[in-house]
Amino acid sequence: MEDANRTPVTVIGLGAMGRALAGAFLDNGHPTTVWNRSIGKAEELAVRGATVANTVDEAIAASPVVVICVLDYAVVHEILGPLSGSIAGRTLVNLTNGTPKQAREAAEWAAGYGADYLDGGIMAVPVMIGRPEAVILYSGSAGAFGVHERALGALGTATYLNADAGHASLYDLALLAAMYGMFGGVYQAAAMVGSEKVPAAEFAPMVVSWLNAMTAALPAVAEAMDAGDGADDDDSNLQMQAVSFANILSASREQGISTALLEPMQALLDRAVAAQRGGAGTPSLIAMLRTDPVPA
Ligand SMILES: NC(=O)c1ccc[n+]([C@@H]2O[C@H](COP(=O)([O-])OP(=O)(O)OC[C@H]3O[C@@H](n4cnc5c(N)ncnc54)[C@H](OP(=O)(O)O)[C@@H]3O)[C@@H](O)[C@H]2O)c1
Repeated sequence: MEDANRTPVTVIGLGAMGRALAGAFLDNGHPTTVWNRSIGKAEELAVRGATVANTVDEAIAASPVVVICVLDYAVVHEILGPLSGSIAGRTLVNLTNGTPKQAREAAEWAAGYGADYLDGGIMAVPVMIGRPEAVILYSGSAGAFGVHERALGALGTATYLNADAGHASLYDLALLAAMYGMFGGVYQAAAMVGSEKVPAAEFAPMVVSWLNAMTAALPAVAEAMDAGDGADDDDSNLQMQAVSFANILSASREQGISTALLEPMQALLDRAVAAQRGGAGTPSLIAMLRTDPVPA
């Protein structure tokens, strides 16, 4: 039910995520206007009370807060680039996944049109949207975040980082990098035990308790990373780890499992040892990531 005290919002992009965002605004009583290239995706939201705009200009004119969540930034510019109406004085909240550079460019674009800009990183899948466990990271205009924090709270836990529009993307992608690294390892593990007909479902609880034990060590590891730690690690030195890591690759090959996911890590460990860093701990690898050449 629409609530006159709630900020009107517009949602542009009604893919799986955009529909969830618009649905959460509706559930919280926000007058909600939606627009999508394929208009059929707005039908269910219209039944729930959303106003379906015929044009992007009309959608933007409807609300002080305009959320856009589409496939990528190229699509953001394709949709917003040809605007003939005004976005001046509105807050553009871009929840599209992209890079910090793309976010900063979008912030400049918005500033050129007199709009406030917030970039966001959605740390959730659509089914989580509207619940506190859906964390959405924001960076960009502090003033706009302050004014619209309550409205953005309808989507999940709204976490403001800082005024650099690129930081929400940076944190988002860094967290996703951690997640994909973890899943890559878990899939390798599942394929290894699966080669002996052990079901992943049976193995998973062991993985969970092992990963929980390892993540508990992260604060200490993080301190070592910040220290740029090349200091000797008397508990788990790199040389020992390079050898046992090689055993993971050998065992995978013996079991007929690809090692493609793990080979880059082995290469990094081997180069650290070759560079006489074998006595240090794994946090010292981060220094190599910083100084290694970055492919264009
Ligand atoms: N789904 C998730 O789990 C999840 C989680 C976190 C973040 N995100 C991010 O949220 C964003 C949207 O994801 P999604 O899951 O909603 O994707 P999706 O279901 O594939 O929807 C893509 C959206 O982009 C629009 N689009 C694509 N190309 C277009 C074009 N050339 N012109 C106009 N519109 C175009 C689509 O319009 P049509 O409907 O007309 O095709 C649709 O609204 C992405 O940046 C994604 O990384 C998603």
